[in-house]
Amino acid sequence: MSLLATNVGNVKLKNPVLLASGTCGVAAREFSSYFNLSELGGIVTKSLGIRPWVGNPTPRVVEIPNCGILNSIGLQNPGIEYFAKNELPFLTEQNATVVLNVVGETLDEYIQAVDYIKNRISEFSAIELNLSCPNVDGGLDFSQDPKKAFTVVSEIKKITKIPLWAKLSPNITDITVIGKACIDAGVDGLSLINTILGLAINRWTKKPVLPRGVGGYSGPAIKPIALRMVWQTYKQFPKIPIIGIGGIHTTDDAIEFLLCGASCIQVGTANFANPKASIEIINGLKDYLEKNKLSSISEIVGQAHQNKTPVSARH
Ligand SMILES: Cc1cc2nc3c(=O)[nH]c(=O)nc-3n(C[C@H](O)[C@H](O)[C@H](O)COP(=O)(O)O)c2cc1C
Repeated sequence: MSLLATNVGNVKLKNPVLLASGTCGVAAREFSSYFNLSELGGIVTKSLGIRPWVGNPTPRVVEIPNCGILNSIGLQNPGIEYFAKNELPFLTEQNATVVLNVVGETLDEYIQAVDYIKNRISEFSAIELNLSCPNVDGGLDFSQDPKKAFTVVSEIKKITKIPLWAKLSPNITDITVIGKACIDAGVDGLSLINTILGLAINRWTKKPVLPRGVGGYSGPAIKPIALRMVWQTYKQFPKIPIIGIGGIHTTDDAIEFLLCGASCIQVGTANFANPKASIEIINGLKDYLEKNKLSSISEIVGQAHQNKTPVSARH
């Protein structure tokens, strides 16, 4: 077994590196010309609803130089039925590990979407509930209100045995409050974090660049915020697997998330600048294990919380 193989709760992954939802097309089809999709720890699909969503008016993306991007895609997606019929067979053929990201405007829509695939446990390693999209009206409701987060997680747990991850929003004062609600409802993992609300202004038109005004900020600039949220959540709930997301572009970034308590990580905005970023991180992690004579990547998960001072950091 590879040293990079890891368990995220009861989800077995070949390695701890996945592609983040919405940053690799609907189902990473375009990435298969760069590498074999089966080399990844997994692919998280675009958020899929029970019906197709048209998304927001354009422009939808603004680059914030050296920091990342602000997006307002508005969850454009072809719907879960289209995905299951037209995209999933391709992923299966590629032997890819698939995490299905699901979204709904209402509790009922989340339930209907999961209901559509609830028994297909051999095709999906996990379901990731997107409770945290900042780019649609009401998109943050489920991850800003602990009661709503509890309800959606517990209702979905009732209908499927596929492991369930909840993707939370950083647009909240204390992420552990929502994390606890999801844990109480039986969630199997917490995906931390989605994008942070931001704004870009065009000083010539004197108006926001994005038609909806605000957008979701992602990329290198959000890494410290994401690390802080992984850190806080692991500290309070060390037993719940955390999927670390936010500004991960390099192996070093990935290692920092694992040390803070993430069991695996997702690569998002980096994919736009370098479609092979995830593979480079996987190779970098292999080197890291060899150089440090570690027998498994899970050995470093949460290590930043231990009190022992590493020899190399002593003065
Ligand atoms: C263009 C774009 C589209 C996204 N679409 C989704 C989506 O459909 N569902 C979702 O859960 N997250 C979506 N995200 C959020 C990412 O999956 C990720 O959580 C976030 O960008 C932070 O990671 P990063 O800094 O590595 O990009 C999107 C992000 C971007 C930049």
